[in-house]
Amino acid sequence: MERPPGGSRRIRGGAAPDCWTMPSDESLVAVTCTAPVNIAVIKYWGKRDEQLILPLNSSLSITVHQDQLRTTTTAAISKDFTEDRVWLNGREEDVRQPRLQACLREIRRLARKRRSTGDGDPLPPSVSDRVHVASVNNFPTAAGLASSAAGFACLAYTLARAYGVEGDLSEVARRGSGSACRSLYGGFVEWQMGQQADGKDSVARQVAPESHWPQLRVLILVVSAEQKPMGSTAGMQTSVQTSALLKFRAEALVPARMVEMARCIQERDFPGFAELTMKDSNQFHATCLDTFPPISYLSDTSRRVMQLVHRFNAHYGQTKVAYTFDAGPNAVLFTLDDTMAEFVAVVRHTFPPEADGDKFLKGLPVTPAPISDELKATLAMEPVPGGVQYVIATQVGPGPQVLDDPDAHLLGPDGLPKPKPAA
Ligand code: PMV
Repeated sequence: MERPPGGSRRIRGGAAPDCWTMPSDESLVAVTCTAPVNIAVIKYWGKRDEQLILPLNSSLSITVHQDQLRTTTTAAISKDFTEDRVWLNGREEDVRQPRLQACLREIRRLARKRRSTGDGDPLPPSVSDRVHVASVNNFPTAAGLASSAAGFACLAYTLARAYGVEGDLSEVARRGSGSACRSLYGGFVEWQMGQQADGKDSVARQVAPESHWPQLRVLILVVSAEQKPMGSTAGMQTSVQTSALLKFRAEALVPARMVEMARCIQERDFPGFAELTMKDSNQFHATCLDTFPPISYLSDTSRRVMQLVHRFNAHYGQTKVAYTFDAGPNAVLFTLDDTMAEFVAVVRHTFPPEADGDKFLKGLPVTPAPISDELKATLAMEPVPGGVQYVIATQVGPGPQVLDDPDAHLLGPDGLPKPKPAA
């Protein structure tokens, strides 16, 4: 039998081939996986079932590359553990959180079902064994970068590997955070709203793989938050109760937008994709304003970014850059590789870094580019120093991954978080 590095042993013949027993404790099974952030271009806003987390409309997103943004999660299962426990970014959290409990219940239900139908893993871990979970983000959680989608997708994927559950995990991830089901796949992903009352057909599905549109680039502009925005759960509830525009959008507009967005992606029609992305973001924020009392996620800087993108596109007489905003002021921009360097220069010109100018741009390398005087004149924007804290340059990426290296485990052989290595 093949022996992996670090002296751990692969569980033989199991349905969870990526599980490793810890070297010092054969009864403990640990799995570590990573999962990506996704950015919706057709937005999900509003639930038709709060309990099952079923949406009012379908949505479509782009999976962002994990080289730049990812959650890493370790799940360790042992018959010696007396309770389920969870650590987020090194701090123990309350495992009784309803969303967390819903994911755990769901994965155990699927594991039991699998075993009772006879195609399950004949070896431990048993479904009744308790689990320890540790999860970290490689980006600041407070920056408002859709960390819950990556977090719950990673939880669902890692638990599934640990308990030997196969097949679509939309149902599990969705119970943590609706948009998390879209982070289970790479590339371009739709969450089909489904029709059934039990939510069995409310699933995520890949529209195109990450290799489909290699020229597409993503720029995330982390904007200084002026206030803590209202969370998506409470915001959606108020919108569903009070916004007639939301109901109209979900029923009359989104179905055709889903078809049109899928076409733009299939045909790599950037102007079509970009215009619909911006319109859908604007419509989502319009439903927020139509909510009573109104919700406002955009800041002055967000609105300046919108203006900048429109003026840049007007200068070239074609749509070369698109923006989208979720439940916060950060901007996510889409463009093609031939425009990336110039637009990064435009952002730096408009929002000059106040300090640490060399740390302003993170992620993919971007060669500094000049901006013409004509372009500066069309943009006609008064620079706002510090309006954008930093920019992450990234691209479309793959779905969740299993880390085979036992050193990647966030939990030690005792099932507790490993101490952080000294800096
Ligand atoms: O999955 P939630 O509850 O975090 O809601 C996500 C809502 C938006 O980010 C605003 C839109 C979307 O489709 O991701």
